[in-house]
Amino acid sequence: MSADLKSGLGAAQRAVEERLDQALAGETGDLADAMRYAMVGGKGLRGFLVLEGARLHGIAEADAVHAACAVEALHAYSLVHDDLPCMDDDDLRRGQPTVHRKWDEAIAVLAGDALQTLTFELLAEAPEPLAMVRSMAEAAGRRGMVGGQMLDIAAESAGRPLTLEEITTLQDGKTGALLLWSATAGPRMAGEDLTALDTYGRAIGLAFQIADDLLDVEGSAEEVGKAVGKDADAGKATFVSLLGVDGSKRRAAELVDTACAALDGYGADAETLRALARFVISRTS
Ligand code: IPE
Ligand code: IPE
Ligand code: MG
Ligand code: MG
Ligand code: MG
Repeated sequence: MSADLKSGLGAAQRAVEERLDQALAGETGDLADAMRYAMVGGKGLRGFLVLEGARLHGIAEADAVHAACAVEALHAYSLVHDDLPCMDDDDLRRGQPTVHRKWDEAIAVLAGDALQTLTFELLAEAPEPLAMVRSMAEAAGRRGMVGGQMLDIAAESAGRPLTLEEITTLQDGKTGALLLWSATAGPRMAGEDLTALDTYGRAIGLAFQIADDLLDVEGSAEEVGKAVGKDADAGKATFVSLLGVDGSKRRAAELVDTACAALDGYGADAETLRALARFVISRTS
């Protein structure tokens, strides 16, 4: 990872954490503790995308941080619920016990619920709040992340592997929608044209999921921080099972080129977003 990207991701994570601390200030007990726990230890890619897109469109960090924290809260909720026994039944997340293992299932469900509503509480503070709330509701809900998760769960009992088209639709929702939302949040808050960051966001969203599927095959649980080998065990069709390891890597590299080319209009200012696109497929966790 480039030094600039590393320090940028670190700074974004600190800004998101500070905003979260402010939101939950003075709150004690299992629910608030589980919410804080679920928010730490990730790479913070989505929050960083929001802050970078905002910077490129002249939105001050103090205004954009509400949206950065909002998407990280939504993402954290999606992971807490994804790990539940009724979903993927995972014990390890970000190298730590999952929320339902650390506390219990009821607290994991409720912490996820509360993180989701926190997302909208935070977006109400962002520039262009109505557009931000509405677009997040679409990205996170039945036509976005939840819809993709539904297709993913349904695929386990479909009795046949998904086609490439079906898997692309699934991933567009499950992983792509939130990454796309994050990439386009800057111009959305500025009321400006989303086109370039829309192209960038779609390409890195797909590349990101191909990398996730590759890590499930090639990574170690120790490094990745979550269980691996689960997709094949569950008989899931993924990009890797359909395109093969080499084919998947080629496709991911093409997507990174597409993502970087989409940023041409921003010139050198978008260098960290280009570095992020490259990192998405070279990451080991
Ligand atoms: C993991 O996302 C879940 C998927 C959407 C595939 P990340 O890899 O961004 O997770 P963290 O936030 O860094 O833990
Ligand atoms: C989950 O996808 C993506 C979400 C919407 C939470 P996965 O089930 O593949 O994510 P990991 O591998 O558990 O992080
Ligand atoms: Mg899952
Ligand atoms: Mg999972
Ligand atoms: Mg996965």
